[in-house]
Amino acid sequence: MTQNTMNQPMPTFPPGFLWGVATSAYQIEGAATEDGRGPSIWDTFCRQPGRVHHGDTGDIACDHYHRLEEDLDLLADLGVGGYRFSIAWPRILPNGRGRVNQRGLDFYQRLVDGLHQRDIAPMATLYHWDLPKTLEDQGGWRNRDSAAWFADYASLVFEALGDRVPYWITLNEPVCASFYSYGSGTLAPGLRLGHDAIATAHHLLLGHAEAVAAFRASGAPGQIGITLNLGPTSPATDDPADVAAAARADALATRWFPDAVFTGEYPKVLLDFYRPISDFSFVHDGDMERIRVPIDFLGLNFYKSWVARAAELPSPRRRTATDLGAVSEVPPGAEVTNFGWAVVPEGFRDVLLWLRDTYPNLPPIYVTENGASYDDYVDPTGQVRDTERISFIDRYLRGAAQAVEAGVDLRGYFYWSMMDNFEWVEGYGKRLGLVWVDYDTGRRLPKASYYWYRDMIAAQHAQDTR
Ligand code: FCB
Repeated sequence: MTQNTMNQPMPTFPPGFLWGVATSAYQIEGAATEDGRGPSIWDTFCRQPGRVHHGDTGDIACDHYHRLEEDLDLLADLGVGGYRFSIAWPRILPNGRGRVNQRGLDFYQRLVDGLHQRDIAPMATLYHWDLPKTLEDQGGWRNRDSAAWFADYASLVFEALGDRVPYWITLNEPVCASFYSYGSGTLAPGLRLGHDAIATAHHLLLGHAEAVAAFRASGAPGQIGITLNLGPTSPATDDPADVAAAARADALATRWFPDAVFTGEYPKVLLDFYRPISDFSFVHDGDMERIRVPIDFLGLNFYKSWVARAAELPSPRRRTATDLGAVSEVPPGAEVTNFGWAVVPEGFRDVLLWLRDTYPNLPPIYVTENGASYDDYVDPTGQVRDTERISFIDRYLRGAAQAVEAGVDLRGYFYWSMMDNFEWVEGYGKRLGLVWVDYDTGRRLPKASYYWYRDMIAAQHAQDTR
């Protein structure tokens, strides 16, 4: 599938397939101190020297908060049926708990109403990494109470928007919000812990379970799921040390969260491996049954896959939760994006088939993120001709179509991202959008990929109504 397939017609996806684009609050909204928003862990993290490329912050980002109508019109012109966004917890509850900030809720009311006016289905993520700072000061996700804090916040949002949002996502990529935030320390709040980092992953899942229970109790008519990112990892060689290292890396990158959500267990290979650094005392009786609460759909974020080889392991005393004695690399010979991520359309097909074959109780899947960063630029004629991105989406969609053909219940695809935005530790240095954003002026410029995606969606809809 690495050959150029773009001249061949795109396979038809099932009728009603939901075509969309995705964003998240901290990455696009800006207006960081406006209308009563409290600080999040990303506001403080960005201000720590050396954490984020170029010292960038999300203070202004795409200024989406002030350009809401313009962005809604861009979505409408694109012809998407769905838009995935996230709600900023610190806009709703500036201190994480307690006092509600009505102006924060008003913003999301305007967003949701604006989507409905344009016939676009809202898909709202409750947690896309922007934990209120005040809660981090109380231990953040290390504190078991975080599950209840999250469920209280979720209940409030269900009450305000539950009648108008058909798709809810509790957490975005909990592996990043736990292991890479409290273990490797790459993401906010940037801590490097062992046992406590594994506990954050557990508390996030408890929060997910409590939010799902609150959603059911609210009687809201929509559906609820969780978004997991999977990064399948195979051994770089058949050396037994590499094989064992890859099994651990794969268990973290693909199995820790889906196993918990769909089977109520953590992968044994990691439970055994973590014994020297954790007694798992944070897992209380009944927790795993609660975490296994049925959900309506799985949100899948898929970008890349890896090969792993064995690496040195620090002593248990100095080990963090992401020290697995493994180093993950780009598969040999793979084409890469400018993020250095492998372009693996066949991996997309394979991960969808793997999910279907591994979890008998798997609900329908929505791809809630997939996309690529390239060295885009505005050319002398004022256009962004991002042909590499078009080819990327084209090939990944063909991979997804093969999985659908093989019987995978895939219901929708959301490209990441609607527009260029604050790419976490990469700051504004990486562009994944269908729309170019000029950060000096805030001007939006649809790229060639925007028009390509628009035409592809229109062609799919024409097939639907045949
Ligand atoms: C995912 C994140 C999303 C974006 C993409 C590129 O891990 O969920 O916010 O940064 O990667």
